[in-house]
Amino acid sequence: FASLKNWETNQDFRDTLHVKACPINRCNPEKCNGSIMQPPNMMRDPRDPKPSMDSIKELAKDFINQYFTSMKRNDSEAHSSRLAEVLASISSTGTYELTKNELIFGAKTAWRNAPRCVGRIQWNKLHVFDCRKVTSTREMFDAICVHLKYATNKGNIRSCITFFPPRNDVKTEFRVWNSQLIRYACYRQEDGSLVGDPANLELTELCMRLGWKGKGGRFDLLPLLLQANGEDPELYELPANLVLEVKLRHPEQDWLEQMNLKWYAVPAVSNILLDIGGVEFPAVPFNGWFMGTEIGRDLVDTSRYNMILPMAEAMGLNTKKTSSLWKDKAILELNLAILHSFQSDNVTIMDHHVATESFMKHFANEVKLRGGCPGDWVWLVPPVSGSATPVFHQEILNYTLNPSCLYQPDPWQYYKWKDTVMVKRKNKLHFKELAKSVMVTSRMMKKAMANRIKTTILYATETGKSYAYSLILQEIFNHAFDAKVVAMDQYDICNLEYESMLLVVTSTFGNGDPPENGENFAQMLQKIARDGTDEQKPRKRGVLRRRFQSVTTATPIYRRVSSKQLDVSRDFDSVSQGLLANVKFAVFGLGSRAYPHFCAFAHAVDTLLGELEGERVKEIGEGDEMCGQEECFRNWAQQVFKAACDTFCLQEEVNLEDANASLKSTKFDKSNFRVTVSDVQVEPNYVETLSKMHRKKLSPCRLIRRKNLQSEKSGRSTILIQLEKKNSDVLNFQPGDHLGIYPRNDPALVKALISKIRDATDDSTVVRLEVQDEKKTFIGNFKYWDADTRLPSCTLTMAFSRFLDITTPPTPQLLKLFSECNVNEEQSTALRILGQGESEYEDWKFSNNPNLVEVLNEFPSTQVDASLLLKQLPLLQARYYSISSSPDVYPGEIHCTVSVVTYHTRGGDGPLHHGVCSSYLNSITDEEEVPCFVRMAPTFHLPTKEDAPCILVGPGTGIAPFRSFWQHRISQIQKGASKDRTMALLFGCRNPQQDHLYKDEVETAMKQGAISHAYTAFSREEGKPKQYVQDVIMNDISEFVFDLIHTRNGHFYVCGDVTMAAEVHRTLKDVLCINGGMTPEQVEEYITAMKSEDRYHEDIFGVTLRTYEVNRSLR
Ligand SMILES: Cc1cc2nc3c(=O)[nH]c(=O)nc-3n(C[C@H](O)[C@H](O)[C@H](O)COP(=O)(O)OP(=O)(O)OC[C@H]3O[C@@H](n4cnc5c(N)ncnc54)[C@H](O)[C@@H]3O)c2cc1C
Ligand SMILES: NC(=O)c1ccc[n+]([C@@H]2O[C@H](COP(=O)([O-])OP(=O)(O)OC[C@H]3O[C@@H](n4cnc5c(N)ncnc54)[C@H](OP(=O)(O)O)[C@@H]3O)[C@@H](O)[C@H]2O)c1
Ligand SMILES: Cc1cc2nc3c(=O)[nH]c(=O)nc-3n(C[C@H](O)[C@H](O)[C@H](O)COP(=O)(O)O)c2cc1C
Repeated sequence: FASLKNWETNQDFRDTLHVKACPINRCNPEKCNGSIMQPPNMMRDPRDPKPSMDSIKELAKDFINQYFTSMKRNDSEAHSSRLAEVLASISSTGTYELTKNELIFGAKTAWRNAPRCVGRIQWNKLHVFDCRKVTSTREMFDAICVHLKYATNKGNIRSCITFFPPRNDVKTEFRVWNSQLIRYACYRQEDGSLVGDPANLELTELCMRLGWKGKGGRFDLLPLLLQANGEDPELYELPANLVLEVKLRHPEQDWLEQMNLKWYAVPAVSNILLDIGGVEFPAVPFNGWFMGTEIGRDLVDTSRYNMILPMAEAMGLNTKKTSSLWKDKAILELNLAILHSFQSDNVTIMDHHVATESFMKHFANEVKLRGGCPGDWVWLVPPVSGSATPVFHQEILNYTLNPSCLYQPDPWQYYKWKDTVMVKRKNKLHFKELAKSVMVTSRMMKKAMANRIKTTILYATETGKSYAYSLILQEIFNHAFDAKVVAMDQYDICNLEYESMLLVVTSTFGNGDPPENGENFAQMLQKIARDGTDEQKPRKRGVLRRRFQSVTTATPIYRRVSSKQLDVSRDFDSVSQGLLANVKFAVFGLGSRAYPHFCAFAHAVDTLLGELEGERVKEIGEGDEMCGQEECFRNWAQQVFKAACDTFCLQEEVNLEDANASLKSTKFDKSNFRVTVSDVQVEPNYVETLSKMHRKKLSPCRLIRRKNLQSEKSGRSTILIQLEKKNSDVLNFQPGDHLGIYPRNDPALVKALISKIRDATDDSTVVRLEVQDEKKTFIGNFKYWDADTRLPSCTLTMAFSRFLDITTPPTPQLLKLFSECNVNEEQSTALRILGQGESEYEDWKFSNNPNLVEVLNEFPSTQVDASLLLKQLPLLQARYYSISSSPDVYPGEIHCTVSVVTYHTRGGDGPLHHGVCSSYLNSITDEEEVPCFVRMAPTFHLPTKEDAPCILVGPGTGIAPFRSFWQHRISQIQKGASKDRTMALLFGCRNPQQDHLYKDEVETAMKQGAISHAYTAFSREEGKPKQYVQDVIMNDISEFVFDLIHTRNGHFYVCGDVTMAAEVHRTLKDVLCINGGMTPEQVEEYITAMKSEDRYHEDIFGVTLRTYEVNRSLR
């Protein structure tokens, strides 16, 4: 290693990274090239012989290794197969194509490796425009306009880079001939003097030879000279509206303003070559933002604007003797004025102190992370007050790492013109391209941006709404972006840092937990946020599931990089450099205020993405299923779309009204769908079909026994269902896990529905839904019908029984479609009003909770076609049941305790409704296959420390999982476990005569030592006051609970309805307060600690108790 001393702090840094440096000798034993501007070995000249295939392979191999290592996926299968692919491609073609993610990684790493750049702390925040597919200068020009617009961002400058095609050979080269995208011209006067920026004299003269006519001023924007595919370059005038300039003025003195000086806001270097793993990109304009001293030098250097003397004179300084330090004074005042002017105009700029301080932080961080940080001291120390900045005192090694930024000769030095006549002709107008280019239409900008900005819409859902909303979001985003919808469990989290725009739509389940298909994503995201890596894959699904409510309590970090932040230099180094520094994001949560942790998972995702320093383009949106969920979502979707357009500078290009209208449109064109009789008249196996449809491994079970656990006096039913697994190797579970069941809709309801369909086929005909598509071919476009992929070919009866949800009240969207096919004006209007999803809809839904048949009865003139329902109805979802048996006691079987749901709508006055799944389970015969799967509930398992005391609180059907617990303990005792363990059961029901579930079994379990204590709370016992489980905890067993939880480090389990769980939770806090003398804050901390120690376990069924009242109170 090399030891690097900081002479200011005496701190020593060790650099080991240099051993990975490319063998490019900057210096040799005879001489040091430290101050050479363009060391020959940093120059990639296209006239030199091409690098050998072996050296390209070496670079490629190293780069691919770096890329996979960065994702902690080195030595994975993906790594080795990518490497093999790359090497094979180099063998056969001499090069290879970088994937989009490799390109982004390569671009950022090249910046990170650039020894001369002082602003590298920002290396991770670089937006990449991938324009490797452009074929003409026109397309290059369009892309550059997009780049400038995005980078400028009204002064809040953003770093970005545009990749044009890589080098194949010089004959097909793409290049930007300008050294920066924005440059001022320079005119030689007859007396030999120069007007403008002398740095650009050669290019100005070349442009003029090609027909450009400058105005002869000091700050004329040079046109772009672009070369595509090895052809002669062409001129494009820079649209003035894309170039932001700052007029320079001094904060206190007026001499500067009178000098009429200005400078452009975006420094976009365009003549550097990027070598990424042996692939060379000679045309890659990129920009950061200015450090003030750079502009200062441009204006005062004698080889540039050379303004130092006029300025000193204007300031009245003594320029006669150097010791008056007039030069220093003038430079200093100019630098001050530059910073002042940019800051006053809200244009990003940094001063050299902040820049170097941030570099030192970056340096120290890089030494820690990578074992070193290459740096060119000569360039890093600023041109003014060098020793007053910290880099001055730091020893730094200079070396070249690949990916790297390299110099290349100016193209006019080697390019062989095809149109030699035109080049020689002087001042001959050649405005063809130039004139055209001025027309930067907004349509063009929109197209150019949309081609490039990919948007990923990630969703997680339990019952399908988040998915449906994601599709709506995709619809609106496709007006300006390239949006795709991906389920969280199908998403490779390694892509996260490469996203440009990430939208998350997710619901919350359990009690503040992610939906099942969001669990892995959630764990990985947490892990990345915590450890900065996703290295450790989750052990198994759900095992690491953390309680997400605790994440939401963390203060969200809103670190949007605003111009205000940026131009205040003291905040500069706090600008994000996290993993997602480049990712713009927004989150929408679906939830219900009936739950204490409303939209908790969405909040957790929002917070974590923010902590990883993603840029939040819109505050989180929330949709409460109790009230106006869809309306909230549509409002949010409009706002987030607008915010995204603003962020990507598409405001002027997008017609927001059109886009917003797409949110309102119903998107079902009847003529594009039809139902046809299927060729094969065989019904599919519904278990297999459901498996495919829901991407879940389902196994069929059969009913062995069903028993009503309530007495005949009760009038309600809670049933014990004993199912037999068809295959003993599947559906393995532990006590505490859930069984997922796909139910069947009530046959009578299905029949009633089919009778209302206009074109219904008979009961035994297998049909399929077809959608009309259009194919574009070279002989013309033709339309064809294709099978819709959502549903299989089956009878209508099977579709409505097994696959589609016909009982959940229709969405506003569906009602709108009904209004369109209703032939009665009054009904149609009523449906349309409901279809707006506003308060009328909410009231109607709340009061009637209508199923589909009831809706069609209420609006009988709706002429509904089978295709409409097959296409639009949501899928029938699985229901979960806490497993009520132990596999040790009942191998091959799974038991559930099911409360059979029946209720009258309209608060008791409406028609009788039957819960789909509970009624199905109450009616199945032993012939029928029940499609099942197991959902693990690792946070609800018995303690791993087997003698840990437990309290189990489960009123009503909440007792379900505890039956599996006591059965498990019985089996353990039978195998020799001690009986001296505390397992206290607290059950609640109405009264001992009606619904004291499992009374006998509990007594037996007590005798066998599996349950140590059993308590009951009767809420409707005649002549006695109402008692709930929480009352028993508070009034009867408060000290016992405290002792068990606090003194004996016990576990607390609660299962059932969410309101009950919340009240029990509150009661436990009171118990801790009273018995432990804790303050409310201490109790809060105590319970949080219990949760993270996995001693507080909740199994939430949802809103099951007094559903109507709860909904009403929340409305
Ligand atoms: C993790 C988990 C574990 C569960 N474990 C069990 C268990 O062990 N045992 C058990 O019985 N259930 C359990 N449930 C609940 C179960 O999943 C189902 O929700 C329940 O069986 C009802 O389903 P269903 O298809 O019969 O009713 P659905 O057809 O889904 O009807 C229920 C819906 O009807 C409406 N509704 C119900 N009552 C009223 C009312 N009075 N007024 C107006 N509307 C009303 C509500 O919108 C409610 O959501 C659990 C749920 C979860 C999430
Ligand atoms: N998704 C669903 O909609 C769904 C799912 C499952 C069950 N259900 C329905 O929900 C009901 C629940 O059935 P169940 O057997 O689980 O329970 P239950 O028998 O209705 O209730 C069990 C006990 O809990 C009490 N209780 C009510 N509110 C409570 C609270 N806030 N805190 C503590 N205890 C409370 C009840 O008292 P009181 O009733 O006397 O107040 C009763 O003593 C049934 O009507 C069933 O049809 C609905
Ligand atoms: C068992 C259960 C638990 C739930 N838990 C929560 C919760 O903790 N917080 C919340 O805001 N919503 C909760 N909800 C409500 C859902 O998030 C809400 O119904 C949402 O609209 C479902 O969207 P999805 O179809 O995309 O899953 C829960 C719903 C159920 C059925």
